Amino acid sequence: MNILVTGGAGFIGSAFVRMAIAETEWRVANFDKLTYAGNLENLASVDASPRYRFLRADICDEAAVSAALAEEKPDAIVHFAAESHVDRSILSPEPVIQTNLRGTFTLLEAARRCGVARFVHVSTDEVYGSLEPPLEAGEDFPLNPSSPYSASKAGSDLLARSYFVTYRFPVIITRASNNYGPYQFPEKLIPLMIANALEDRPLPVYGDGMQIRDWLYVDDHCRGIRAALENGREGEIYNIGGNRSLPNLDVVRQLLATVGKPESLIQYVADRPGHDRRYALSSAKLMRETGWRPRMDFEAGLARTVEWYCANAAWVARVRSGAYRAYYEQNYDRRPVAL
Ligand code: NAD
Ligand code: TYD
Repeated sequence: MNILVTGGAGFIGSAFVRMAIAETEWRVANFDKLTYAGNLENLASVDASPRYRFLRADICDEAAVSAALAEEKPDAIVHFAAESHVDRSILSPEPVIQTNLRGTFTLLEAARRCGVARFVHVSTDEVYGSLEPPLEAGEDFPLNPSSPYSASKAGSDLLARSYFVTYRFPVIITRASNNYGPYQFPEKLIPLMIANALEDRPLPVYGDGMQIRDWLYVDDHCRGIRAALENGREGEIYNIGGNRSLPNLDVVRQLLATVGKPESLIQYVADRPGHDRRYALSSAKLMRETGWRPRMDFEAGLARTVEWYCANAAWVARVRSGAYRAYYEQNYDRRPVAL
């Protein structure tokens, strides 16, 4: 099988590419613009494979997308490329709307014209918005996004689905919960807190820290996407969760214990505007239809992740230099202490 992956130099996309090269016979083309979040170091282990090819381009560039599809003739597309961070989407929504909506549209349209046989659109549980306990979102839950990021993902999900309904274009949508693991850009909760803790810097917890997220180890997510790609049904949506809901404060405390640093590093800061209180989802459909299960226990996954960040201090230092500092200042420096 020939696969074209978009966003394969990012956190989850690179894990998927590494898995595909290591565990399958697929040929993989990685179509990625290399934004601040794209990093070819994440793909060093597959770079020499004759089954792997990198194309640097923007999914909003219609000519580049069409040329790549004509050249690669993929049997399937797995679409990861996105502006993926809620805080950045609050600070500057424009690139989020551009890539997540316009980019997804450009890709869908080119893929439909080429007759690509399967298109997996990688999405998020954030499209369901905040849910009161004990609710868990099933795939038929209403979409109720809160941030420019989640609204752009909800919009791209609807567009992808419309391509199935209108054109019978074979789209499958996956919606995963919060991922964690090696190679995650240190703007998201877990890698940001690990990187700060390792340098004895404050750990900025938004609001009261009691917001709840479901945590999914990145390799479990990639196996879930593969299950949907190989055994899912066209036109269907599949939730992919880690079956491990935790308040942020518990995650941060557990992480400090794993790193061996004191809880006095926790610093409460002003809450994120529009902050969703609780995400929760059911993955029963993917489990029932494909036999997929999350395998990684959260404690083991967190320990493995901390180990990776400790062993890859040079990677962390490189991605945190330059523009990262400006982002960090913009998002955190003027955030008054809330508690
Ligand atoms: P990431 O930010 O780490 O990586 C995004 C990748 O997309 C980067 O390599 C970047 O260079 C590339 N990219 C961005 N804009 C592009 C464009 N216009 N053209 C081509 N490439 C472009 O993201 P991630 O955390 O790996 O997330 C991947 C996908 O999974 C996203 O669609 C995201 O919405 C979804 N998702 C993420 C999570 C999570 O917890 N991180 C959870 C559920 C779903
Ligand atoms: P994040 O990793 O940004 O993912 P998402 O917003 O997509 O769920 O944040 C996870 C949770 O952690 C979310 O409730 C916001 C919170 N958070 C903090 O408290 N401090 C931080 O510095 C960051 C980045 C996140």
